[in-house]
Amino acid sequence: MTKYVLGIESSCDDTSVAVVAKDGQVKAIKTVSQYEVHQAFGGVYPELASRAHLEAILPTIEQVMSDANITPSDLTAIGVTRGPGLIGSLLIGLSTAEALSMGWGVPVYGINHLRGHMRSVDLEETRTKYPAVVMLVSGGHTLVAELKDPWSYRLLGTTRDDSVGESYDKVARMLGLGMPGGPAIDAAAKRGTPVLRLPRPMKNDGYEFSFSGLKSSVARHIEKHPEVSLDDMSASFVAACMDVLMAKAERAVIECQPKSLIIVGGVAASPQLRDGMENLAQDHGVSLCLPPIKWATDNGAMIGLATWDYIEKGIKPDLIPKPNLNLETP
Ligand code: KG4
Ligand code: ZN
Repeated sequence: MTKYVLGIESSCDDTSVAVVAKDGQVKAIKTVSQYEVHQAFGGVYPELASRAHLEAILPTIEQVMSDANITPSDLTAIGVTRGPGLIGSLLIGLSTAEALSMGWGVPVYGINHLRGHMRSVDLEETRTKYPAVVMLVSGGHTLVAELKDPWSYRLLGTTRDDSVGESYDKVARMLGLGMPGGPAIDAAAKRGTPVLRLPRPMKNDGYEFSFSGLKSSVARHIEKHPEVSLDDMSASFVAACMDVLMAKAERAVIECQPKSLIIVGGVAASPQLRDGMENLAQDHGVSLCLPPIKWATDNGAMIGLATWDYIEKGIKPDLIPKPNLNLETP
């Protein structure tokens, strides 16, 4: 009989729970987003996030178990995000998972959210071929790493300040496009033309990123030219982000000579990024691995699939929230 993992994600502003088989099949998933809760603040308000997780988590788990038509005896394990993320949000997921584990007699694994994103690409279908280069572009992170197998990462570079997703969100706020910023900027950018020449921070320097200067130059431009077209500004901003991301991805592909290039994280939902990386991968003869858009942003299914790696490796980290957990630590 097929066994499953219950994956629980609550590191930021989505309560997401999924039932996932070892081969990446997702038997059931439910995600409760908190956009309405945080909209008035223009960003995630940590205390309200924990409270919303607390309200949503048990009904979401019950719903998903019922949708999957399984009982706790069908579970090999529970996997729950232990970091990185907001401490209060992490704590709700971790303590709920720990309580269920005791009540159900099912082991519980604390999972690295970044490893979850990395595995999102193999949900429903195994896409990755190793060795691989992976670029994680989300609201919390921007990094490039080399991957010899699903377990061994070598970090090539990360951001010195803002992540790319964070700058999408901040620029969207400046332009009055609301939350979530990413899809709103994408849509505006499609209507506009990238006529404004914005900086490409650190484009030619190794693998590190810096997006805060780009965001500030958008702010300065809006201040000086309030008449600027929102669409052209969005298009120019997206073009600058894409230039930087593509340059780093290309450098890593040339240096590491991988079989596949993996792009994950919320910004991997961007059509501009998906198209650009498709061309880059073709030019260099590597296969491009993208998660279907629904698996790019935070979700419990990616945590569920990552849990199977931990089970296989026999690695069972503690259940203490780790707000700053890095990629190399399980
Ligand atoms: O991976 P994710 O859901 O959460 C983190 O782990 O941070 O990523 C969220 C980020 C947000 O900054 C959001 O603006 C961005 O992903 N995002 C997008 C798109 N959808 C979400 N950015 C660009 N284009 C999109 N379609
Ligand atoms: Zn994430």
